[in-house]
Amino acid sequence: MPPSYLMPEAGTEKSHLPTPALLIDSTALEDNLAAMAHFFEGKPAKLRPHFKTHKCPILARKQIEAGAIGLTCAKLGEAEVLVEAGIDDILIANEIVDPVKIDRLAELARQSRLIVAVDQYDNLRQISEAALRAGSLVNIVIEVDVGLRRCGVQPGNPALALARQAVQLGGIHFAGVLGYEGHAVFVTDAEQRARQAGDAMQALVATAELIRQAGLPVEIVSAGGTGTYNLTGAFPGVTEVEAGSYPFMDTKYRRLGLPFRCALSLLATVISTPAPDRAIIDAGLKVLATDNGLPEVISPSGVRLAALNEEHGRLEVDPAQAVLHVGDRVELLPSHVCTTVNLHDRYYVLGDGRLVEIWPISGRGKSQ
Ligand SMILES: Cc1ncc(COP(=O)(O)O)c(C=O)c1O
Repeated sequence: MPPSYLMPEAGTEKSHLPTPALLIDSTALEDNLAAMAHFFEGKPAKLRPHFKTHKCPILARKQIEAGAIGLTCAKLGEAEVLVEAGIDDILIANEIVDPVKIDRLAELARQSRLIVAVDQYDNLRQISEAALRAGSLVNIVIEVDVGLRRCGVQPGNPALALARQAVQLGGIHFAGVLGYEGHAVFVTDAEQRARQAGDAMQALVATAELIRQAGLPVEIVSAGGTGTYNLTGAFPGVTEVEAGSYPFMDTKYRRLGLPFRCALSLLATVISTPAPDRAIIDAGLKVLATDNGLPEVISPSGVRLAALNEEHGRLEVDPAQAVLHVGDRVELLPSHVCTTVNLHDRYYVLGDGRLVEIWPISGRGKSQ
């Protein structure tokens, strides 16, 4: 149990929380979950949200309650956290190749329905052997490179060839195909984004069709991110969407004008005011990710984040608009929620500016 100074009582005012604190605006979060659930209502495709964003089993449960069919995750360690939390339908949208991990995967599949991405035969065979040893069944989806140029076999015949090999092996069940169009999700021009996502999904769905024509059932056609949820989620033949960032959003996703609000922020404290136009906060690179650029100051106005060191943030203050004092609170919007969340142990969930609950980020750092 964390020390009590990290776990203030419900009702505590935002300004009294221990900083740096990762805050969730509960109203914005609930609105985002509802907006996404509403989009999928009555659609053939279903939502299987990505755990890599929030890494929080309590939030995963909320997503299931809102209609998600299960969770997606990137790492075996995350899948273990989800199974521990009682989530029983999990897609690992990544290759697991280390023999020790493959054994962990096969063991975990005894407790929960697990689906894992595969893009080469040796891996398929190793998973099959481990599952037979463990007496479990591991579902596999063949990862197809639909343009991201990350993992995956090429669409069409290479995917079919691997599917044919998969159905010959014991201990595994060939469940379908996965093709993440990550090269399209952040394209700011909506038409261009739609075109790129459409091309990618065309390749993925045609691959699924080719496999079906060869007599192999394809249940899962999985793809999609927050930037393409509405394109991929409406594309005929796609069965599941893996969007992750939509519950929280960030400055990078905000540019797309999607119907989701920013629900995650970081609260920091001014620790020094060396000059009227400069203030230093207690938040640096160890609590804010910068892979998508510097975070943005939400409040107070007239203040801009200029640089981050390990444990310091340097603010540029416009003295005509703002005067900062030591002890003042500053709130920032992350530029990339997924990598920021991974730096924290807990969320302080707020309603009307007061603490409602504290949620552990149990999947934080579970990269092995
Ligand atoms: C395999 C996979 N699916 C889906 C996503 C979508 O996530 P987001 O909604 O955060 O863009 C990602 C993002 O990294 C991913 O790697």
